[in-house]
Amino acid sequence: MSTKDITITVNGTEKELSVEPRRLLVHAIREDLDLTGTHIGCDTGNCGACTVYKDGEAVKSCLMFAVQADGAEVTTVEGMADLPEAGMGRMDDLHPIQEGFRYMHGLQCGYCTPGMIMAGKALLEKDADPSEATIRENISGNLCRCTGYQNIVKSIQYAADVLNDREPPESPVEHPESGGETAADGGFDCGAGCGCDVTFESGTEGGEER
Ligand code: FES
Ligand code: FES
Repeated sequence: MSTKDITITVNGTEKELSVEPRRLLVHAIREDLDLTGTHIGCDTGNCGACTVYKDGEAVKSCLMFAVQADGAEVTTVEGMADLPEAGMGRMDDLHPIQEGFRYMHGLQCGYCTPGMIMAGKALLEKDADPSEATIRENISGNLCRCTGYQNIVKSIQYAADVLNDREPPESPVEHPESGGETAADGGFDCGAGCGCDVTFESGTEGGEER
């Protein structure tokens, strides 16, 4: 099949791609650009795991052809820590939304998290101090099978606090700044302080490459 040359600015860098007209944006992001932080849950527009920030909007990248993003500016979760507002909170190397998810324990398996973060970014760009109802409405296209959404809402509220120069709440997580530590016995302390004893192999999540 013939291909088309396109240019997409991804996380601030212009990328030139040659893609088949049928190639989905999510596949171009994950497979051609190797940015696998953008997940695929359903490939049919239902779950929101593939959400990216494109030209000021949250878009489900499985619902777009890559050729439709020709000339666009796209931010994926990998680019969040390089945005100007990164480091405004307690951690120098995270965007406030990422920090919110970490401090407010806004994830469990993490599969929905990149999409949730990008939906949160799109919301906070439009409404810097959204109500809880507005947050819930704006993440209603993003499904989470684990958290019950409460801590996801708190994570976005945390980011709104940081972005509005308010002191964000303390974390219920025991060591949110630790980033997880590998113990001498091969165990892994994720910092949640829950006492579970999950061992991950080095370089993997849950023992499995993602
Ligand atoms: S993978 Fe795109 S909405 Fe589920
Ligand atoms: S944290 Fe597992 S799907 Fe949301």
